[in-house]
Amino acid sequence: MTSALTLRNDFIIISTIDNLELAKEVANQLDIQLVQAHLQRFSDGESKIQMSPVSNNRCIIIHSTHPPVDQHLMQLFMIIHKCTNDHAKDICIISPYMAYSRQDKEFINGEVISIYVIGKILECTGSKELVTVDIHNPNVLSKFTFKTYNISAIPLLAEYARSHIRLNDPLIISPDNGGINRAKQLANILNIEMSWLTKVRDRHTGQIKSKYEGTTSISHRDIIIIDDMISTGNSIINAAKILKELEAERLFVLCTHALLLENAAERLLTAGINDIIATNSIPNIFAKVDLSTMLSDHISRFLT
Ligand code: R5P
Repeated sequence: MTSALTLRNDFIIISTIDNLELAKEVANQLDIQLVQAHLQRFSDGESKIQMSPVSNNRCIIIHSTHPPVDQHLMQLFMIIHKCTNDHAKDICIISPYMAYSRQDKEFINGEVISIYVIGKILECTGSKELVTVDIHNPNVLSKFTFKTYNISAIPLLAEYARSHIRLNDPLIISPDNGGINRAKQLANILNIEMSWLTKVRDRHTGQIKSKYEGTTSISHRDIIIIDDMISTGNSIINAAKILKELEAERLFVLCTHALLLENAAERLLTAGINDIIATNSIPNIFAKVDLSTMLSDHISRFLT
């Protein structure tokens, strides 16, 4: 429980059913009112939002944009629009998982850099501030025209690993070059050696190939694989295969966002992953690390 948090009493937290547990916890810790935006989904995929007026309030919307991403994004835009129409004093979005953050470059000629489209729509609908957690590429936020923060859940994941997993001769592995800094951060906190795999994605088929080119021994060591997200699970399954071929002992996965599409969880466990540790940025069965205190602290430090 966060202590001595004194927010102005015109703050409210808004959430739909999807992030309600996390939003409730944050609202409790900050002792501010929680407003639920009621959601209805129609058979054609459209969403309908209904919520009480929020005039004169400072609105903090807690809403991850996980799959189905376009539906969750549209719901977010609708909630922001409602707050703007109601003359809310301020609108801050906390989207722990930010959709489209992997579409951050023109990988193939002519590709739309979709994350910037999201930034534009957020701006147009009236967002004044955006908070994300371990967004895939934090650099994209510098192009947004309003205030943005990206908070790291790695210290929380590290704390969980330290207190819940007894590791034997551990090694931290990033499944790709893009995650090296993340793995270094975890390695520094836990004071454990780190290394990484290389991963190449065919931009047309989406297929990936991974290999280990490091010199650090893997044999008979417990491995922590750290990634920002598990989507299909293919990156981690490829990594597990290589690490097992190199005689790794147990394999643990730490990630901030467990999307776990289709039967990813089952495939990961079948591929030899001993456990998956994720945060509650998205409700999921491996959400062992709670973000509420970290988010409450952020709100109380930056939004008072
Ligand atoms: C990409 O570079 C990300 O950091 C993740 O490794 C990737 O998005 C995970 O996706 P999947 O689980 O589908 O391999």
